[in-house]
Amino acid sequence: MNQDSLTITDNRTGKTYEVPLEHGTLRAMDLRQIKAAAGDFGLMSYDPGYLNTASCKSQITFIDGDQGILRYRGFPIEQLAEKSSFLEVAYLLYFGNLPCAEELSIWDRGIRYHTMVHEGVKRFLDGFRYDAHPMGILVSTIAALSTFYPEAKNIFDPEMRKIQYYRLVAKMPTLAAFAYRHRMGMPYVYPDNSLTYAENFLNMMFHGMEPVGDRHLSLDHIPELARVLDILFILHADHEQNCSTSAIRMVGSAQTDPFTAISAAAAALYGPLHGGANEAVLRMLREIGSRDKIPAFVQEVKAGNKLLYGFGHRVYKSYDPRAKIIKRAADQVFEILGRNPLIDIALELERIALEDEYFVKRKLYPNVDFYSGIIYEAFGFPTDMFPVLFAIARASGWYTQWEENLKDDEQKIARPRQVYLGSGETAYVPQEICLPGSEKAIAYKTIQPTKR
Ligand code: ACO
Repeated sequence: MNQDSLTITDNRTGKTYEVPLEHGTLRAMDLRQIKAAAGDFGLMSYDPGYLNTASCKSQITFIDGDQGILRYRGFPIEQLAEKSSFLEVAYLLYFGNLPCAEELSIWDRGIRYHTMVHEGVKRFLDGFRYDAHPMGILVSTIAALSTFYPEAKNIFDPEMRKIQYYRLVAKMPTLAAFAYRHRMGMPYVYPDNSLTYAENFLNMMFHGMEPVGDRHLSLDHIPELARVLDILFILHADHEQNCSTSAIRMVGSAQTDPFTAISAAAAALYGPLHGGANEAVLRMLREIGSRDKIPAFVQEVKAGNKLLYGFGHRVYKSYDPRAKIIKRAADQVFEILGRNPLIDIALELERIALEDEYFVKRKLYPNVDFYSGIIYEAFGFPTDMFPVLFAIARASGWYTQWEENLKDDEQKIARPRQVYLGSGETAYVPQEICLPGSEKAIAYKTIQPTKR
């Protein structure tokens, strides 16, 4: 018997099947041969939320959640955060190897000179309400790029794909900053291509704004703070098959152009369970208010009444390696901009939680979001810009994953199955029979949209 195989006995029929194993997985299609009767469809696996389903073979990002390891193309995230720039990491993700100086310079130039957006995009932006959420604007404007660059549909032309990559990664900060300034009612600041990627973004965001209230950043700080932001971008550049990355692979499997597919990924990131946890951390820290209230808060969490936001992760059952790096970055930011008082509450909360049996037993450690919100707030980013910052960094990973999926001969248009539990064939009920006050009429009324 083949050692790399699984023997399955179907207790319904008494039949035994041997299915091959590869890379610790069995092919779901190998289950189809297992039938209760001749006309049967065959066995499927049921996995809501894809908790235990590998959807692709990938060479981009490796995570070992138990050991707290994250690597891009084999390189530990700690080394990349210390030694690389975000654009160098983007190159690494896309091509699979670190660039030499000349390659990096060509790459940097390619991205640097695609930062402008068509003036039509600006008019498109103007159509949004004054208080539009910047992430909503970003999702829509990324999709709109596909109409400005219809040649992006030539997805099987490698050169064309590279140009769209330049455009996307270059324009993400411009779209993000424009979305923010639209909301603030401030004139847009055009990209300055003499600046680095992160400097350019900070300049487009904050140029002409005086530091006020809890917004501390002034233009003098940009060169120093740009490196910290660059590190945060590196940490968020890719994270294998999460919700947004799976979304782009799924949409891309229909051979959709990259801009439209990326907008779907950004839409997934917009959800509070994905890109919104760092905002929840800030709310939680404010609600706690002071260090002496932490023990009572932890008791509430342990009683199941509250969630400790920024703790726990589906994959990491150890310290999220990105959280360690972010914690150090926080110190650098506070040295320049002054200490965000929330950090003291966060540090004490982490200390208490890591010593508490409840969290230790469940392997709950700080994740990337525990400290990132505190840093972003110190920069002066409003909380609804947090997922936008995430999206700027993740665009490089999304694009690379989209392209890997496209080139994978094993991939097909994504089309999961379902377990149907609805009604059997039902006879049509004419409207006349649906009397006012009947169950059907009441059900209809309750689903009418409420007016704004
Ligand atoms: N606070 C308190 N208890 C928690 C937390 C938490 N943050 N996270 C998990 N637990 C508990 C659960 O209640 C459960 O307890 P039980 O065994 O007594 O029922 C146990 O730990 C296991 O939790 P699961 O829900 O099975 O863990 P899962 O892997 O499904 O969830 C998740 C991971 C969603 C991230 C969760 O830890 C959580 O909600 N964390 C807070 C939100 C957050 O920080 N999200 C950001 C994640 S990072 C990112 O997306 C970029």
